[in-house]
Amino acid sequence: MDQLVINGPSKLSGSVKVSSAKNACLPILAGVLLNPKPTHLKNLPDLRDIRTMCKLLEMLGVKITKNDNITTFDASDLTSTEATYELVKTMRASIFVLGPLMARKSNAKVSLPGGCAIGARPIDLHLTNLEKMGATITLEEGYVKAEGRMTGTHLVLAFPSVGATENLLMAAVLADGKTTIENCALEPEITDLANFLNKMGARIEGIGTKTLVIEGVMESELCELEYEAIGDRIEASTYVMAALATQSTLTVEGFNPEHIEFITEKLIEMGANIKVGPDYMTMEPSTLKGVKIDTAPYPGFPTDAQAQIMALTCLIDGNSLISENIFENRFMHVPELKRLGARITVKGNSTFVEGGFQFTGAPVMATDLRASAALIIAALAAKGTTTIRRVYHLDRGYADLDNKLRSIGVDVKRENPELENNK
Ligand code: UD1
Repeated sequence: MDQLVINGPSKLSGSVKVSSAKNACLPILAGVLLNPKPTHLKNLPDLRDIRTMCKLLEMLGVKITKNDNITTFDASDLTSTEATYELVKTMRASIFVLGPLMARKSNAKVSLPGGCAIGARPIDLHLTNLEKMGATITLEEGYVKAEGRMTGTHLVLAFPSVGATENLLMAAVLADGKTTIENCALEPEITDLANFLNKMGARIEGIGTKTLVIEGVMESELCELEYEAIGDRIEASTYVMAALATQSTLTVEGFNPEHIEFITEKLIEMGANIKVGPDYMTMEPSTLKGVKIDTAPYPGFPTDAQAQIMALTCLIDGNSLISENIFENRFMHVPELKRLGARITVKGNSTFVEGGFQFTGAPVMATDLRASAALIIAALAAKGTTTIRRVYHLDRGYADLDNKLRSIGVDVKRENPELENNK
């Protein structure tokens, strides 16, 4: 298992370009299953989750070819409708194939994703609403088995779940008649998926609002298309906070700053010196003060940036209060940050962070994707050497991480202690 060794404290400089958003590309890849004509995706990020989703598509019969930065998907002949446990257990987003498979084949067997490091993460909203669209669903031997022709209907989500909105949206594209989905999630990745589907020939209205209206089309009406997903707003936020945590001047580019407006507002409220451009943000060294953060569905403060801002608040003067309202177990980074010198008290879904303590390097363990991102920020600010174990969590969501960090001035190397010991 790889580990990252970072010698700090780091001073970052120059600019870093974020990759296409993992959370946009994963549902878009599942959306490929709807299209009997070729789909060309530009600049897919080189991430473990993306490779896993491609492997899953291949198991379903999709032919994939790559030419420079364009990956072409031919889903004309789907030979299977089963997503096996072996793949789903490594990536929850495999559940995204359920909606498109039901739309195209009226049949799907997908392993239940189960819980994960950050909580139970049920999929009841996906399943009950697919039932309302005409699916008969049974849970057998750890699998969701669904069959039935998708038929347009009126759906109201009990909670604006990102994944459920995306799955139902894809199920509705080839459904008979009109589907209305109310109380949809508003995340930019959903808008991106809807734009991709419309470019494919889907008829979706209300994009970017809480009500999506989808007029079902025939498979034969879909067309060949090329698409590039939006820049990764969470990767961007991570580099933004890394710059502020290390008192650096850094430009982060390749994303839409409007997608992190709430984060930027909070950082400015804290005293951050930030210049916002059309597709970049530049941070200058700033004196920051404590803040109150409550995670919320978009456009609120994203849960996926909660761990990173916690690392930042440990390092500034003043105290902060950070509450997590989306997932029930998303403070796995707290004990690891404490190993570097953080003073954090957890009570229920809230944390009290005492700021102003210098971090000192130590061995730490990555526990989930965003918790690991917090450890990177902490390691950059820490004096001395921090070794981050289980880097595979980071490789799920941060493309080309070591090279990007090196290019902005970080002393970082990737090691595999098992290989070293076997030399
Ligand atoms: C997506 C993102 C993830 C992000 C999350 C919230 C992807 C691949 N992942 O995850 O990075 O942290 O949005 O912004 O895009 N819930 C239910 N029943 C359901 C579905 C969800 O109770 O059927 C609950 C979840 O347990 C959680 C909350 O709703 O507490 C939000 O989950 P959801 O918005 O669905 O997140 P994901 O799509 O899993």
